[in-house]
Amino acid sequence: MFTIEKLSSLEILDSRGRPTLQTTCRLAKGFEGTASVPSGASTGKAEALELRDGDAKRYRGLGCRKAVQNVNETLNRALAGRAFTGQTELDASLIKIDGTGNKSAVGANAILSVSLAFARAAAHQGSVPLYRYFADLLGSPLQSLPRPTINLFSGGKHAGGQSPIQDVLVVPTSARTIDEALAMTFDVYQSAVELIARQYGMRALTADEGGLAPPFNGPEAMFEDAVASIRAAGFEPGRDVSLAIDVASSHFYQDGCYLLGQETLDSAGMIERLTNWVGRFPIVSLEDGLAEEDWAHWPELKARLAGRALTVGDDLLCTNPQRIQRAVKANAADTLLLKVNQIGTLAEAMQSYQLARSAGWRVTVSARSGETEDNWLADLAVGWNGDQIKVGSITQSERLSKYNRLLAIEAETKLPMVRWPGA
Ligand code: PGA
Ligand code: ZN
Repeated sequence: MFTIEKLSSLEILDSRGRPTLQTTCRLAKGFEGTASVPSGASTGKAEALELRDGDAKRYRGLGCRKAVQNVNETLNRALAGRAFTGQTELDASLIKIDGTGNKSAVGANAILSVSLAFARAAAHQGSVPLYRYFADLLGSPLQSLPRPTINLFSGGKHAGGQSPIQDVLVVPTSARTIDEALAMTFDVYQSAVELIARQYGMRALTADEGGLAPPFNGPEAMFEDAVASIRAAGFEPGRDVSLAIDVASSHFYQDGCYLLGQETLDSAGMIERLTNWVGRFPIVSLEDGLAEEDWAHWPELKARLAGRALTVGDDLLCTNPQRIQRAVKANAADTLLLKVNQIGTLAEAMQSYQLARSAGWRVTVSARSGETEDNWLADLAVGWNGDQIKVGSITQSERLSKYNRLLAIEAETKLPMVRWPGA
């Protein structure tokens, strides 16, 4: 049993300098856990509610004092002194206390901070590393380390919109270890820095997740520059290093059309364009190619990409069990992008994970564009045997804390890295 003695939260700042929560859970036996929650910018409409103060005079309304207070008062009052058999029971209580469908009473950020802090404290009480705690929660043995997919170029909401496509990521498909994957990515990234200096005459300015963000002349220029950078680093595109893209197309979808730069495409036109890109460039994973409301066309996109690239749902699914069930039924995707704060508790994220797995899907465990130095995501991706992990680039400490944790877990467990499908 795990008896909560005290919950306490602090407003801290994330990688964009915006407030978020860092919460500590102390258990009766003196075991403690502290965890911080991330925050998205390119958010899906179906995400659980992130509670912000709305006081325009402080952090432009983005303060988290109410959420902090909800932990320190509402949740602490309701949970201190209570004993729980484990994570699932705690998370069920959190959901019940909130009582709304989207966690808008207490705030999904407040709730998740407690769910995560409890996980760390419980792992301490059980004297197990956090990744093992997550594996035990899932009831599945540790199998492999996730393959990193690492931001190279950025656009969309993370980079001021100079290109409509949000992320072009490097997938080190031939790497056999995390260590090798990061070393290969470093070479590609440095080649891209040099290419940008030559081609765009500018220093390596980076976006929210550390991707390079020169004024690309459209998405195809991003892919061409990525392929050139892979080659310049001495790798074979498509064999050693491939590409993953996050189109994040919900954010340029209006009145049933995709406003792709100067062009306006209907759904069929957009599918045609995406398929064309996958044919011309070594793209092996395609996230949010269509918008979150464009349910009718996702099955066609998935069918067209099958065997060539993963069809990944982020805004479409929002790590939400109901939306995942709908997508499985409609055959709309084959990969879940798992972001715990989209749903708000570990137990619900696990339910989403299990639904995806039982449909035979793959899972990419993902950070948010607003991150903290906390590294629980690396443990989660290992504990739940994620196929891919998407954390951002290799230039900023809030991203590197996760990569460095993966390196430490790799050294400790000697687990193999998951193979790329078909590799
Ligand atoms: P977000 O972006 O964290 O800003 O939502 C990440 C993504 O879209 O995958
Ligand atoms: Zn996304």
